[in-house]
Amino acid sequence: MVEKGSEWVVMATGRSPTNIAVIKYWGKRDENLILPINDSISLTLDPLHLSATTTAAVSPSFTRDRMWLNGKEISLSGERYQKCLREIRRRANEVSDAEKGIVIKKEDWERLHVHISSYNNFPTAAGLASSAAGFACLVFTLAKLMNLKDDLGQISSIARQGSGSACRSLYGGFVKWAMGNNTDGSDSLAIQLAEETHWTDLVIIIAVVSSKQKETSSTSGMRESVQTSALIKHRAETVVPARTLKMEEAITNRDFASFAKLTCADSNQFHAVCLDTSPPIFYMNDTSHRIINLVEKWNISEGTPQVAYTFDAGPNAVLVSPNRKTAALLLQRLLFHFPPNKDINLTSFVVGDKTILQDAGVTSMKDIETLEPPPEIKDKVPYQKFMGDVSYFICTRVGSGPKVLTDETLALLDPITGLPK
Ligand code: ADP
Ligand code: DP6
Repeated sequence: MVEKGSEWVVMATGRSPTNIAVIKYWGKRDENLILPINDSISLTLDPLHLSATTTAAVSPSFTRDRMWLNGKEISLSGERYQKCLREIRRRANEVSDAEKGIVIKKEDWERLHVHISSYNNFPTAAGLASSAAGFACLVFTLAKLMNLKDDLGQISSIARQGSGSACRSLYGGFVKWAMGNNTDGSDSLAIQLAEETHWTDLVIIIAVVSSKQKETSSTSGMRESVQTSALIKHRAETVVPARTLKMEEAITNRDFASFAKLTCADSNQFHAVCLDTSPPIFYMNDTSHRIINLVEKWNISEGTPQVAYTFDAGPNAVLVSPNRKTAALLLQRLLFHFPPNKDINLTSFVVGDKTILQDAGVTSMKDIETLEPPPEIKDKVPYQKFMGDVSYFICTRVGSGPKVLTDETLALLDPITGLPK
């Protein structure tokens, strides 16, 4: 290591998106390496609305590895963080900064410590996959700092060891996590099926559902499913392989009807596996079920899918519509059935791409109160409204993969002290 002066800090900053699976990963064949029992497919969500930003810094003055998440120091002692750090360090290369007169040799990385600061632009640990964006961003940014080979596939297989679903956040657009066959996990990595520019019409609305109950974590939930469910075996061996091929075809052809049918069926089967687990796991709640009913009723009345729904290990609904026009009709239906509590304002009730609100003809809280019941329920069964059951909606779209942020003002660590700004 060549040092100019006694103290220096070298930093890198990256931003990574989150993702939502339309063919779910549920179940590991190797808990330690995080190797799944089936392939999965996801949509990367627009980082403008849901992403993690991470700055990683190295300096000879740092005495231990440290990390801050959303401004608070957290422990890096957990096995998943340790694995990511270890795997990245193992592959680190020489870094030189001619301007600062610094050369960090390959072997230096083993004894140098890092500081990491990360910030999520959406709620952490609230069922919106902050762990996927977070681990993807951690690994991506450390890989830049330590000058790893530009091999996103390999980087995704390291992110996989932080959290399985994180490996899919290394690419934008439409992504497959190939389960792989190797026992060392070297071929269990993410592959981009299509870029975000391939199918730009899709609009995504996330209904963040109020939930007081603490959910079973994905990690322990899927372990229990593998140990006790007979359905999960059939799903992994027979259903998912065929469904994955069909989903790839639907994405290639931008075939929304097929995409929607497969997405809903796969979400429903994942939750059926949870119910088939002993003791059963309930991730969806009454509001989730009401959203499914609303969509199914609408789809049936139109004779063709208008919207696809999918739910991860929690009650939040992720709804995909084929275009802005349908998204506006969906938002009208959602606001009609799930109006906000009286004390909430529209700006905080519908966040993200607010232009969908204008398309839906909703520009004030008054407009929500005067929404007409949708035609598929009119004059038929009596309908109910569930005020406050959805906390808020996020309107977004399919987005791009991780990026290096070169603008130093966006760095989360001070370039002199290496501590959070
Ligand atoms: P979520 O549903 O948001 O994924 P989880 O409880 O599954 O919630 O995961 C949250 C955990 O993921 C956090 O406690 C933290 O360990 C990790 N995590 C979240 N965001 C980040 C981040 N930006 N960088 C690193 N780790 C993160
Ligand atoms: C339901 O990736 O959170 O969201 O690998 O144990 O960290 P670990 O689990 P995690 O599981 C995600 C499960 C899911 C489906 C999916 O994203 O494919």
